[in-house]
Amino acid sequence: MDKREFMQAHLPAVGSVRGSREHFAPSNIALCKYWGKRDAQLNLPVNASLSVSLGHLGTRTRVEPLDAPQDSVYLNGRLQGADSRFAQRVSAFIDLFRMGQPEQMFRVDTDNNIPTAAGLASSASGFAALTRAMDEAYGLGMSDTELSVIARLGSGSACRSLFEGFVEWQMGVREDGLDSHAIPVDKPWPGLCVGLVKVDEREKRVDSRAGMQRTKETAHLYQSWPLQAGADLAKLHNALDERDFGLLGAVAEQNALSMHATMIASWPPLLYWQPDTVAAMHRVWALREEGLALYFTMDAGPNLKLLFESASQAAVEAAFPGLEVIKPFGD
Ligand code: DP6
Repeated sequence: MDKREFMQAHLPAVGSVRGSREHFAPSNIALCKYWGKRDAQLNLPVNASLSVSLGHLGTRTRVEPLDAPQDSVYLNGRLQGADSRFAQRVSAFIDLFRMGQPEQMFRVDTDNNIPTAAGLASSASGFAALTRAMDEAYGLGMSDTELSVIARLGSGSACRSLFEGFVEWQMGVREDGLDSHAIPVDKPWPGLCVGLVKVDEREKRVDSRAGMQRTKETAHLYQSWPLQAGADLAKLHNALDERDFGLLGAVAEQNALSMHATMIASWPPLLYWQPDTVAAMHRVWALREEGLALYFTMDAGPNLKLLFESASQAAVEAAFPGLEVIKPFGD
């Protein structure tokens, strides 16, 4: 089944477009990562994952019906060429909603307030915000769960950006992916901090989509990944239940490094780290040796995301000058 067939089977009948709509969705950082697809068409994952949404940091997207031969796609105020990868991904996603009315075009304004230097992916918040805006533009009235399923078709991790706080993406078992969506995990953690360590802000040469495909196809080590992720997810739930920060940080860090181990074992090898990435890791480990409760996680890129609690903030900022600190649940 491809995305169009899925939408034909499950999208409520699309009526006429209602008008402009605008929505915000938060960015998210996974503590147990999504890495590898069992179905690349529908973005169905090999493993369940768990993330934390980043509050006010994310994407605001506005859609406006347009009387024109093609969509106009703006990113942070700049018109994107119709053949750019960004515009093509946005238009292809909107195609899923305008199936009954292929001639209906849109102007799409996507604004990210994620610090540009932070090395945070914006596709998750972008597709989540676009999904909410399109649902309203057509007056479909879908539930958060249904919207999560559809956002997943744009980018897997987008299904988690429909919700605030901790979020679990349940992998599901169905072939059509109807049960593969995120759910909120209502265990707030005031004082939890995420620190963004900028190593390199340039666009990565191999994106997550291509990277996870290569890993799954070429790394024997990848066979152990679903086991690692399953065990980590269970431990993370324990950490949230017990408010055990040491457990949360350790599991998130080991999970990220395990994912990177599978990338490194791919062919051609995928090593996203740079010398400064490794230097930052050693700084974290040295501070931990000295007794600071500080851990990190990383996605498919060279930048670290530090995990710590408010009580450690001053010490962490002293060791990482200029650190951007986010408190997903406030203080
Ligand atoms: C390393 O969601 O960007 O950030 O589904 O192909 O769009 P596609 O991939 P994407 O992958 C994110 C991978 C990750 C881990 C995570 O966020 O769980």
